[in-house]
Amino acid sequence: MVRPRRYDHVLRVADLAARIAVNNGLDEQRAYAAGILHDIARDLPDDELLRLAPPECAIDAAHPLALHGRAARTLLTRWGYRDGVVLEAVEDHTTGPRGGNDVSACVYIADVSEPGRGVNADIRELALHDLTAALERAIVSKVTYLQGKGIQVHPRTLRAYHALPCSAHPTPTSTTGFPTPGA
Ligand SMILES: [Fe+2]
Ligand SMILES: [Fe+2]
Repeated sequence: MVRPRRYDHVLRVADLAARIAVNNGLDEQRAYAAGILHDIARDLPDDELLRLAPPECAIDAAHPLALHGRAARTLLTRWGYRDGVVLEAVEDHTTGPRGGNDVSACVYIADVSEPGRGVNADIRELALHDLTAALERAIVSKVTYLQGKGIQVHPRTLRAYHALPCSAHPTPTSTTGFPTPGA
């Protein structure tokens, strides 16, 4: 379902998500599964994304690529996939974990920091020994970066931001290279 370059990215995300999970004492198999599945809808045309994941907000309607996580969940559910933890991680990988789902955190961090991205090596290294700190850095940086550019933050990303501990909210430590919701 994905182009060859995307598939290479997917393999790197799955490997890194599993490694992050192992190092943090989390569910390696679910992290790998969610990594493998996270971008299955990423190369679908806009009209199909809109059909699979009807827009919830103006950002979704204007940027259908932002829907590819939700669209992936819809597809997986139709195919009979039933692991709710993995489904939620796939759904939330574009906008950020909603809190309480460590597998989702592994995949989100792996997606923004896998080596092929060429950015966020600091977040990748941090995640390998402190996933919570890495997630805080990633989400705070993303929100601060978008707001600094005057770009509207997706409501689901704001939800992920507000799910962080209060101590995570002050000034970010990294503002480099975050993919857009369509990444
Ligand atoms: Fe993606
Ligand atoms: Fe991805």
